Amino acid sequence: MGDPREKIFREAAGTLAARRNAVALTGAGISVESGIPMFRGTQGMWEKYDPMEYATIGAFLRDPEKVWAMLAEMVEVLSRAVPNPAHFGLAKMEKMGLLRSIITQNVDGLHQAAGSQRVIEFHGSAGELICLSCWNRYPSPEKIRDGIPPRCECGRILKPNLVLFGEPIPWTAQEEAESEAEGCGVLLVIGTSAQVAPACDIPRLSKRKGAVIVEINPEETPLTYSVTDLHLREKAGDAIFRLLKFLRQIS
Ligand code: OAD
Repeated sequence: MGDPREKIFREAAGTLAARRNAVALTGAGISVESGIPMFRGTQGMWEKYDPMEYATIGAFLRDPEKVWAMLAEMVEVLSRAVPNPAHFGLAKMEKMGLLRSIITQNVDGLHQAAGSQRVIEFHGSAGELICLSCWNRYPSPEKIRDGIPPRCECGRILKPNLVLFGEPIPWTAQEEAESEAEGCGVLLVIGTSAQVAPACDIPRLSKRKGAVIVEINPEETPLTYSVTDLHLREKAGDAIFRLLKFLRQIS
């Protein structure tokens, strides 16, 4: 008897190949296999650092040096991370003409490092620092080499150009993400616990316009029994590898 989960992978691959118009919404789970910890769960960042104390814009404005204690750890992990087979697999799907874009909540730049061309950074990027006084921007690695916390030429402590709680989503990212979500035939929701708005609302936008929602996550999420059509209950690397195997056979 074959793997009972084989059928659902075949169905997902068949839909991806038939529609040739997928978008991926990714979260921290896709980068776990690159050694970057998740936010939630026992090993997550928010277990160690209370997000209300370390990850809100209010906390940063009050005490940027304290917030940089958490950011320094994040920057150190990100500086060592390289894309994993899940990132490369999505880049391959784009080249095959099956995936039109990626909306990512991650700030690690690993989709671009894997070769994906069209990436919407919904929560900004850790690769850039910004001054909240004069709006100067700097590439992170160079500036951080000079010391932590990094400072602007004006003397103010810089903030990574990523979205902290209480900050709006960059409006171009919000608009592009909505338009991609509403225009796709398949939404691949990969490695997100779907607990943070407005990113967690994206699957509903796609569903309302008739897209098939394929969720890749070893766990269940609030989407699984409400919005998801096909749940591929595996790690992102394994699931995308299996999807590509079927896609090569049928595309
Ligand atoms: P979470 O840490 O909340 O959720 C990660 C999800 O990945 C969980 O549902 C896991 O089950 C799943 N997962 C774990 N390993 C996986 C693997 N190998 N393959 C696939 N899935 C796996 O991360 P996000 O949902 O991305 O925002 O968090 C959303 C936002 O909350 C973040 O962007 C960040 C955070 O607070 C801000 O900082 C504004």
